Amino acid sequence: MALSAIDGPGTWADEGFDDLDEKWLRSKPGIKWGLAAPDVLPCWVADMDYPAPRPVRDALSQLAESGDLGYPRNDRAALLEEKWAARMAQRYAWSPAPGHLRVFFDLIQIVQIVTHLATSPGDGVLLFAPAYPPFPHTVESMGRRLLAAPVVDDGTGWSFDMETAADLAAQAKVLLLVNPHNPTGRRLARTELLALGDIVLRHNLIVISDEIHADLGLAGPGDHVPFASLSEELAQRTLTLYSASKSHNLGGMGCAVAHVGHTGIERQLADLPSHLLGGAGVAAVAATLASWSAEGDAWLERCVARLQDNRRILGDWLAGEGAASGVHGYPPEATYLSWLDFRPAGLGDDPAAWLLEEARVMLSSGLSFGPGGPGFARLNFATSPGLLREILSRISAALAGRALASRALASRALDRRAGPGVAGVAGVDA
Ligand SMILES: Cc1ncc(COP(=O)(O)O)c(C=O)c1O
Repeated sequence: MALSAIDGPGTWADEGFDDLDEKWLRSKPGIKWGLAAPDVLPCWVADMDYPAPRPVRDALSQLAESGDLGYPRNDRAALLEEKWAARMAQRYAWSPAPGHLRVFFDLIQIVQIVTHLATSPGDGVLLFAPAYPPFPHTVESMGRRLLAAPVVDDGTGWSFDMETAADLAAQAKVLLLVNPHNPTGRRLARTELLALGDIVLRHNLIVISDEIHADLGLAGPGDHVPFASLSEELAQRTLTLYSASKSHNLGGMGCAVAHVGHTGIERQLADLPSHLLGGAGVAAVAATLASWSAEGDAWLERCVARLQDNRRILGDWLAGEGAASGVHGYPPEATYLSWLDFRPAGLGDDPAAWLLEEARVMLSSGLSFGPGGPGFARLNFATSPGLLREILSRISAALAGRALASRALASRALDRRAGPGVAGVAGVDA
């Protein structure tokens, strides 16, 4: 897709999965495109480029048109719980214990509240790194100890280092699990989750299980397994965090839920002053309910089909041009994120900074993902196939230009050393 000068707000097709008008994208007020210079293609923050689902827009329009933006009835939490529980049963064959769902503003808020309640300064929080940046940041900024077990490249994909996790767990109070995993897109198999479950039980850990990307499964084997569905014993130690904000592209709405299986934390939450935590506004709840509907899920199905196709485009690039340019990675099993290793290309610790300058594409810098981040960058591929191809070809072209320039430099250096005035001259090392 060619870049064009911006001379108006542009238009958008209703869903935009296959084609997106760049003028419209650049006119959007959100952070993703709003922070990109006019010649830069942004593929960083985890927002999709597609317009929000039609059923969500309809629900929001209806709410606005009803003229009633007053205090909502307080049965909304029960309705969210009903829809959420039905969703867990239908999609993941899990029947969560009823009466334990709480509504919050967003997931980061929940992680911070639970960290605050479940741990004291100096206590250890175990997570796998590289990690979604706000989480290591939360742990450190709250004075807790970050215990980071690595996610490593085992030659076939990203692998969670369970041995190190088991060692670190002895010093931890909480396991902060992100599954499917941001940034690698790994979806842990039941066997891996059971191994983690053993660690949790052995070390008496509380589990915060962030499953926000659960509905964005792109490839087998298997499907998402909620951590709390593994056993009743684990369910009673686990808070399951979930929202429509990634699956239905509602990052700015502010509505998330936590199923609080741990009775101690549930009691602590109940003891807090009733308005201390805040929650979701009436529009955010309407948007979430519209997402968790038959129409919302029909949209999700079409969205996942687009993401699967984009994943194939990315996979072909990684196996071909990407590999030839020194970029290494694996197409993810879930999420629309890809964790790219630029170390073979020799771009230093912060390839995203180089790519922004030289390729005019904006990826997320690996440096903010904690241990395991230097030399990497995260690519968001929830865009049109045309824009994705353009992003990838800009990366390959910039890296090819760099390789050419460094070969030319090396050959000039060689020429100088082996040049006519030098060869055979006594005292010169040729
Ligand atoms: C793994 C993960 N957890 C949480 C969030 C943030 O969710 P929220 O906006 O509901 O806080 C994101 C956003 O990208 C995410 O990828």
